[in-house]
Amino acid sequence: MAGRYQHSELAVGLRALKNHFGLTNRQIAAAAGVDERRVGAWLRGEHVPGRSSLRQIVRAMVRLAGRARNRRPLPDEHAHLLDDGETGPWWAWRDAAGAEDTGAPLSPLQAHIREFGTLIEERTRRFTGRGFVLDAIEGFLGDPAFASGYVVLQGEPGIGKTTVLAELIRRHGCVHHFNIATEGIRSADAFLADVCAQLIVRYGLDHADLPAAASRDGGFLSRLLAEAAVRHPVLVVVDALDEAEEAPDGTNTLFLPSTLPRGVHFVVSTREQHDLRLLVEDRRDVMLRDDDPRNIADITDHVSEVLRTGDGRLTGYRPDKLVDVLVERSEGNFMYVKHVLRDILAGVLTPSDVDTLPNGLRDYYRTHWNRMRARDAEHFLRFQEPTICLLATAREPVTAGQVTEWVREHWAANGWDGTRVRQYLVLEVVRQWREYLNTDGGGADTRYRIYHSSFQDFLREEIGLADYHTSVSASALAKIAITETSSRPA
Ligand SMILES: Nc1ncnc2c1ncn2[C@@H]1O[C@H](COP(=O)(O)OP(=O)(O)O)[C@@H](O)[C@H]1O
Ligand SMILES: [Mg+2]
Repeated sequence: MAGRYQHSELAVGLRALKNHFGLTNRQIAAAAGVDERRVGAWLRGEHVPGRSSLRQIVRAMVRLAGRARNRRPLPDEHAHLLDDGETGPWWAWRDAAGAEDTGAPLSPLQAHIREFGTLIEERTRRFTGRGFVLDAIEGFLGDPAFASGYVVLQGEPGIGKTTVLAELIRRHGCVHHFNIATEGIRSADAFLADVCAQLIVRYGLDHADLPAAASRDGGFLSRLLAEAAVRHPVLVVVDALDEAEEAPDGTNTLFLPSTLPRGVHFVVSTREQHDLRLLVEDRRDVMLRDDDPRNIADITDHVSEVLRTGDGRLTGYRPDKLVDVLVERSEGNFMYVKHVLRDILAGVLTPSDVDTLPNGLRDYYRTHWNRMRARDAEHFLRFQEPTICLLATAREPVTAGQVTEWVREHWAANGWDGTRVRQYLVLEVVRQWREYLNTDGGGADTRYRIYHSSFQDFLREEIGLADYHTSVSASALAKIAITETSSRPA
């Protein structure tokens, strides 16, 4: 059943190997000669691989890793993952994980379940504090006076909502869904299919597959919640309602039901929104405020800890002052400290920059944008700005090849000679901006997207993306024209 050993060491180990080397399930499946959906189920911890399957996929990953672009050695705590010998850790984990996957066909439901393991691990890697938020959420969930309903976590972009929910999911192994605008996961359809399939698998409900109506409205979801709640308390976590598509008039975002059966709770997150479409019967709010002393304390702890472990690279800094300034300038925003700490440890910022650190996340983006432009205005105008803005325009993660095509289109629109735009130049920009991007997969199929929605907001609101939307549409239209001409009978 889904989530039964979702967080067992076996599944966690498999995901760590995959993530470190940036592999996709498809690559692993092809290299190991097994079904891709089965690989997904093993990595999600929904099925236990047999001994020979396990050996096959571990070997396949190690082999692929040798060819992967990310050839960083595994960190010490994961080095043992490369050991697939009989004394390695895999076999003990496998035995502990319980009954083995018999190789029977996977249920069609698996195809609807999305894989968010990478996101959950990435967000919670250096998780700090947040006891007060998790206690507040868990307090509501355990409150007998709140037998069912929604807990709504609110806070500004970059403060750490997604991270709190990722930690909650890691702890409870509950049904979950993340809306990720930059990845194109924002439709009600995607949400309903994912969550309905998880509910059926996890609570052993009597449905072999999703009916077509499952993702049309909230009806099937409500029915499954009622069926599951007969025997179990049910918890569903849904991140970033603000990144989901706009709901039709008169309905809740994602068709979330306004009444929930007894014993069913949803924990959802959103930025503070006056027009949030969530009319529900019973609801509790948890506010994550930037100026809350407990938020500031968590950020202080995180900064101190990261600086403590980065010691060698901090010569010339006055550590106490650095912590104070960084925390004050962060304006209570975790995304801000993440960017600035990385700049400090990478030597992009120097001790003399401490007094002029930007104020808050938006100002940080602005400063970084200008700093990159000042380095080489011509290269910035021709390559960096178009590449980044086009990535911010894309509806889902895209390959460097696709971005190159769009950059050419953008050049043509400006009357520049687009043949000078080469893919390696686009890849160079991607490398220069890698901290702002998320990378999925590896090799030629590597796909990129903007890492955080707050950076996309900055680009849309301050740099302007309208021209870039035009280039993307022009490129798509040109393709349609070509296919139509070439498919027309001679
Ligand atoms: N408690 C925390 N400990 C460590 N890092 C955190 C914490 N909260 C947030 N971060 C980091 O800050 C960044 C922004 O957090 P995120 O959860 O994406 O914010 P939000 O969802 O509110 O926009 C992420 O890169 C995340 O890893
Ligand atoms: Mg978020």
